Amino acid sequence: MRTPLHLALIYGSARPGRLCDAVGSWAEAEIRRAGGFTTEVTDPRTALDDEPALREALTRADGFVVVTPEYNHSFAAPLKALIDAADVEWGAKPAAFVSYGGLSGGLRAVEQLRLVFAELHVVGVAESVALPDAWNRFDGAGRMLEPERPRRAMGRMLGRLRWWGEALKAARSAEIFTEAA
Ligand SMILES: Cc1cc2nc3c(=O)[nH]c(=O)nc-3n(C[C@H](O)[C@H](O)[C@H](O)COP(=O)(O)O)c2cc1C
Repeated sequence: MRTPLHLALIYGSARPGRLCDAVGSWAEAEIRRAGGFTTEVTDPRTALDDEPALREALTRADGFVVVTPEYNHSFAAPLKALIDAADVEWGAKPAAFVSYGGLSGGLRAVEQLRLVFAELHVVGVAESVALPDAWNRFDGAGRMLEPERPRRAMGRMLGRLRWWGEALKAARSAEIFTEAA
């Protein structure tokens, strides 16, 4: 059996009362359901308190799932601070996005994240999961209502993330990744 692909599940909100906890827990459960992955949550509420630990967590990861809300047509500042706190730890790995918000489902935040991650040599997975009207998608216990469509989108996204994750893991082990490569 293949070694599971290790994912850093990165939360994109640090707001008190954030919906990010419900969306992130849903994403983590779906990744577990898909199988073949291990996950570790990276949370902007605490990640910057210990930058060496953040860098180690990102180094361990073969890929990233970023769970992000949309704030004023972009992603939130704590996520940018988390991204900027590391450098080569991101490189030559794939990132996939679970976004949420109002009408746009967070897609404008994701488009901006793709630009930022390109600078860090992160391959953005084209397939994504977007949750418009996110506040009405979870019950009081944080369970997703009508999960069928997002689940299918998640399955497609994880399939592609797995492909890129395996391909880039092999590439990283074959060659030392450098800025000049
Ligand atoms: C200051 C602010 C700006 C927002 N801007 C947008 C926006 O541009 N587009 C959108 O779809 N939702 C927007 N929202 C809604 C958020 O995406 C929504 O409240 C989401 O739950 C925030 O994530 P969080 O609860 O995990 O922090 C905004 C919310 C706030 C508080």
